[in-house]
Amino acid sequence: PSLMSPEAKRLLPPNTATVQTKPFPIRGERANYVNSPHVIAMVGLPARGKTYISKKLSRYLNWIGINTRVFNLGEYRRHATTAYKSHEFFRQDNTEAMAIRAQCAVEALQDVCLWLENGGEVAVFDATNSTVDRRKVIHDIVVQKMGFKLFFVESVCDDPLIIEQNIMEVKVSSPDYTNMNKDAALMDFLKRIEHYQERYQPLDEHKERDISFMKIYNTGEKCVVHKHEGHVQARIVYYLMNIHITPRTIYLTRHGESEQNLDGRIGGDSNLSERGKLYASALSKYIKEQNIEGLRVWTSWLKRTIQTVSGVTAPQERWKALNEIDAGICEEMTYEEIKEKYPEDFCARDQNKFAYRYPRGESYEDLVARLEPVIMELERQGNVLVVSHQAVLRCLLAYFLDKSAEELPYLRVPLHTIIKLTPVAYGCRVEHIQLPIEAVDTHRSKPKIPGELEEKFLHRQKTNLGRKS
Ligand code: ATP
Ligand code: F6P
Repeated sequence: PSLMSPEAKRLLPPNTATVQTKPFPIRGERANYVNSPHVIAMVGLPARGKTYISKKLSRYLNWIGINTRVFNLGEYRRHATTAYKSHEFFRQDNTEAMAIRAQCAVEALQDVCLWLENGGEVAVFDATNSTVDRRKVIHDIVVQKMGFKLFFVESVCDDPLIIEQNIMEVKVSSPDYTNMNKDAALMDFLKRIEHYQERYQPLDEHKERDISFMKIYNTGEKCVVHKHEGHVQARIVYYLMNIHITPRTIYLTRHGESEQNLDGRIGGDSNLSERGKLYASALSKYIKEQNIEGLRVWTSWLKRTIQTVSGVTAPQERWKALNEIDAGICEEMTYEEIKEKYPEDFCARDQNKFAYRYPRGESYEDLVARLEPVIMELERQGNVLVVSHQAVLRCLLAYFLDKSAEELPYLRVPLHTIIKLTPVAYGCRVEHIQLPIEAVDTHRSKPKIPGELEEKFLHRQKTNLGRKS
């Protein structure tokens, strides 16, 4: 019986394995730009963490402002075939299945190219790409035909324990195995790996000397980088060299309620309020009870975060980069005072809170740039408690929870609440632990209906735009 769904069959002319069903987009002017679109193509046997790396890398690149998307070939394969039956599909002598797989790869690449032609900056092509021939097809399409940049990232892992753990963690619960018990799924997946192994050709700097690539051995024990080019690839290499998969927990919390929080004033460097001090004691009690191995504590340079951890017994570090957003000329004012004194600024911030920069101060976008070294160091560390501020923690949360620039400045980070992040499978489990000490609410939601002021401002913006065009 045919493995292809009728829908997929219609796409294939008779006896063709690699015919294109959609034309590749015409190579655009953008190919000559310094920041050409990039394809990051993963390489490696199954269960080597390719999807994990793809998703994590995409989350990081989007967070630093590079528009990135993952194209997972497994999803194309599932879409093109009827329900998965067994590892037999992946046998090297299964010619019909091989044709389907080749066709799926071409279709995924077509989508990659279309997306890059339409404003995407980085596409991560998440597939095994485990033979020289497959990599040549990718090179021909991505580099020769489209003029995009191409960087291969290979994950090599020969530790049977890690491989088995990976299969048990993510593969046995994949859509391929919905009707199989875990042990049978594990056995089937190991057979699938054997089929790939028969033709696997790792990246080799002598055999594929002209291509740019990076190889990660045994979850980062060693990395090899070959002919990487330009700023984007350099950032990718640096990021992937810093990540690890050792289980750990990250605790995020704001300082205890401050005197200026009580007055509704933003910024400043005030002391904790009486309730803020109670939170500091409750926090150190909570942390002590958790008995967290090797815990490190990071605070900002501001008094309210340092006072919050005065009772926590663990090594502490102060990061200036963790200081609250600098509200410039609006520092130490209430939102009402800002609205009164700088109505246009107040309104402009609501229009695009992520990009809005306080005069002589910062924007959320600036904060993300300032926090990149913090994220990089967090990636390297084990258990960490980060004690910082509302805007800063929104940026860190957006990184861990993959939130967009639109959502980021409105994420809820209440006072007197610990946010516990535990890495699981491809993402993070998030728990909110609210300690029972009252505090003011400093969250200001995006106004739903523009007020009179906003309307006036929008009207002026429109008329200005009209004049310019
Ligand atoms: P497939 O080819 O079947 O799609 P894959 O290579 O994409 O498999 P993943 O689904 O990403 O494999 O496997 C996820 C697991 O890999 C996670 O449990 C994660 O902890 C682990 N992992 C992450 N990075 C690495 C690495 N560099 N080497 C080995 N395992 C890793
Ligand atoms: O109000 C507390 C505070 O941490 C201020 O110092 C800071 O300016 C503000 O929150 C950030 O929140 P928002 O961006 O919503 O104004």
